[in-house]
Amino acid sequence: MSSFPHRAFAGRATVVDALSASAPEGVIVVCGWVRTRRDAKGLSFLELNDGSCLANIQVIVDESAKAHAALESVNTGAAVAVLGELVESPGTGQKWEVRAVDMILYGAADPETFPLQKKRHSDEFLRGIAHLRPRTNKYGAMFRIRSEAAFAIHEYFREHGFFHVHTPILTGSDAEGAGEMFRVTTLPTHGQQEKKERDDPFAGDFFGRECNLTVSGQLEAENMALGLGKVYTFGPTFRAENSNTPRHCAEFWMVEPEMAFADLESDMDLAEDLTRAVVAKVLSRCPQDIDLFNRFVDTGLLGRLNILVKEPFARITYAQAVEILQKSGKAFEFPAFFGTDLQTEHERFLAEEHFGKPVIVYDYPRTIKAFYMRLNDDNKTVAAMDLLAPRVGELAGGSQREDRLEVLERRVRELGHDMSLYWWYLDLRRFGSAPHAGFGLGFERLLMLLTGATNIRDVIPFPRTPKNLEF
Ligand code: 4AD
Ligand code: MG
Repeated sequence: MSSFPHRAFAGRATVVDALSASAPEGVIVVCGWVRTRRDAKGLSFLELNDGSCLANIQVIVDESAKAHAALESVNTGAAVAVLGELVESPGTGQKWEVRAVDMILYGAADPETFPLQKKRHSDEFLRGIAHLRPRTNKYGAMFRIRSEAAFAIHEYFREHGFFHVHTPILTGSDAEGAGEMFRVTTLPTHGQQEKKERDDPFAGDFFGRECNLTVSGQLEAENMALGLGKVYTFGPTFRAENSNTPRHCAEFWMVEPEMAFADLESDMDLAEDLTRAVVAKVLSRCPQDIDLFNRFVDTGLLGRLNILVKEPFARITYAQAVEILQKSGKAFEFPAFFGTDLQTEHERFLAEEHFGKPVIVYDYPRTIKAFYMRLNDDNKTVAAMDLLAPRVGELAGGSQREDRLEVLERRVRELGHDMSLYWWYLDLRRFGSAPHAGFGLGFERLLMLLTGATNIRDVIPFPRTPKNLEF
């Protein structure tokens, strides 16, 4: 390590590695951001964090050490590299500490203007500085959990024979048929369109037709499943709905498995098993980060997650759900009756109060669900399901797909959608149609479940919500 600072990066130890050492390792290099600095007689104590884990490593700088020269501008927020000896800490609270020999200051942070001075800031305040919040304990933990959860999802599907497919983000159709899409265009902002283009506003556009950001990869995933068997897509999806709620983002990530030769029951089984497996993996791989949320955000978190991992989810039909709600004696803002969509207050009552665990509601009235869901024999309901979780509400929604051409065409017509946009989707029902099913699980909703966060803006690094595109 004599070449410090030149070889500082190549041989550096992450804080998580240094802290999990089993024996003193001699001289190491650690890099990170200073969380706090405390000066005592002849000694300075730095708490250094590099994002590799929740814990900081304590660095001790002796007045006589060479490192002391760099200390003057080292304050909370500064980026530094420290060369020092990893030794057993005589103090309480940490097993190892670094006795600094040399130190480089890369970037100072002016204590007058650096916003992260206090130990705890409100979520609202931190949303306003989303570019800096990864440097706090809470958001470091959040985004490590996010990374681990995404990995666990890929791992689950791989272990269960699903292929990862990439569905397009630019699309010419509306998967949900709800018309809540963001248009993508290369046309000039201020129209100088040719006359011939005035009749067809998209004639001169990049694709020569209307293009939007996808609301769901489902329709394309269905095409892939009816060739590959079991697939999933996991990507960003976009909704231009103007819903300013703590559970909606205009850009969010969705996990969408799709299985050929599957019905509603296998769909519900998959949703339950996937959710349980991912929660269990995150609990075992991120204990410190989860513990932070359990202590400071939601003291019921671990209790709920443990129930989720251990107990089977409840399963009821939509009709039974409505009955439970009506008999609950609760004064809901929106009364529940057959034919109305369940509101968040209903979903939360069922999962939180009535069952005290996740519940899957299935067989919804066809009048409130999308065109692609398979019509049941009663002609009144469709083979749809929603997975509802305590505190979160709807975590996932899916269905067995309508695999009968005539019925699907009737549904597309009934709902007033433009049949010509879906010809390729209808072709699946013309050639080798097969029963198939899938669902979409909101990745941010899953993170709310995993962390107890009550606002979706706090589980995605740069949230997109109405009138909010700062970062
Ligand atoms: O229920 P949704 O709209 O279903 C679909 O899009 C289907 N095409 C999925 C499928 O079957 N492949 O959305 C699925 C999930 C919801 O249950 C919810 O968790 C999440 O996506 N979601 C949102 N999350 C954040 N912000 C929004 N605006 C969301 N809209 C839906
Ligand atoms: Mg839904």
